[in-house]
Amino acid sequence: MPPDQAPAANRPDYGRRLLPLWALDPAIAYLNHGGYGATPHEVLAEQQRWRLELERGPTRFMQKTLPEALRANAAELARFLGADPQDLVFVENATQGMNAVLRSLEFSPGDELLTTTHVYNAVRNTMRHLAERFGATYIEAPLPYPMTDAQQAIDALTPHINARTKLLALDLVTSPTALILPVAALAAKARAVGARVLVDAAHAPGQIEFDLPGLGADYVTGNAHKWLFAPKGTAFLWARRDRQAGLHPTTISHGLGQGFIAEFDWVGTRDPSAWLATGAAIAFYRRMGDGAIRAHNHALANEAATLLSAALGGEEGQSPRLRGAMATVRLEGFEGQDRPAALALNDRLWREHGIEVPIIPFGGSLWVRVSAQIYNEIEDYRRLADALLTLRGA
Ligand SMILES: Cc1ncc(COP(=O)(O)O)c(C=O)c1O
Repeated sequence: MPPDQAPAANRPDYGRRLLPLWALDPAIAYLNHGGYGATPHEVLAEQQRWRLELERGPTRFMQKTLPEALRANAAELARFLGADPQDLVFVENATQGMNAVLRSLEFSPGDELLTTTHVYNAVRNTMRHLAERFGATYIEAPLPYPMTDAQQAIDALTPHINARTKLLALDLVTSPTALILPVAALAAKARAVGARVLVDAAHAPGQIEFDLPGLGADYVTGNAHKWLFAPKGTAFLWARRDRQAGLHPTTISHGLGQGFIAEFDWVGTRDPSAWLATGAAIAFYRRMGDGAIRAHNHALANEAATLLSAALGGEEGQSPRLRGAMATVRLEGFEGQDRPAALALNDRLWREHGIEVPIIPFGGSLWVRVSAQIYNEIEDYRRLADALLTLRGA
């Protein structure tokens, strides 16, 4: 049976038995793959191989080997995303990709920078900072939550898109709430009023299937170090060909004025080994199942949400069709709904129960956000439900 057609959450070759492929502590139920990813040993080994090759002859490596190896890995990532390699550069992380775009743009007083209440907080800070600098207006459209239908997001955002909207920044998968947003439909509405569209796809590569050029965005940034198994510090920035002029990395270096790729490919001396291991990460992802990974993780996230919701009596944050490999469930009956309460519960789960999972304060409630990865099993989420019941009763 081809991997894509294997029963989703029941593939016998997935689950805890795969844990030794990662450095993850086997004593911990690791339910936060979405947080920082987790890099398999073989990808780390490829990264180390590049580090050692660099150190054998740093000058020759940086000047001769690196430019070509960097482009080869960028091309593999571009192909994986269905993009043209000419339109894609590496950045360190999605935060940097968002900053590069936002800080390359100029606004006038009265212009509106639009996003949603589900925006990643670091991006919120960057957008606010820019709005303040230019005397522009920063707007967060409130999205309903829990959300069961993508149309709810379209209905909530549409009234905020108007002739003053100069930029729409949208998450493909939201961070605090694990929702897949209808980016292509919203991008079309923003384009119709002349706004530029910046997509934060931090969580998307490897978690969900998406057509990057088909999003209809001007700019897309995303991480390979989360769901694509690349080493930390591996992310991309894609820009539509006609938006590449005037787009600069957050660090201006020798390539200024020499084009998109020249500007981003050299941003000063740094360790490029993570970027050079991108091809190995994609090879690992493909060998482990590609579409079968996504299908398995999605099914496991759904099962986990059902289990947690039934055990704890809290509602799910999203319907399965708005969910990739992460799910949220509302926590009721715990003390406090703020960030200190969330951090305290996260810490107790780790210290007293050996579970790593984010607890997120959102909209006046605490939510648990579980990730599903091929090294997880439904038993991990049962352990979480039992631990939460114990802590709630304590
Ligand atoms: C929507 C979104 N944007 C940006 C980020 C930041 O990613 P990074 O820390 O790799 O910059 C995250 C991380 O979870 C995210 O979920």
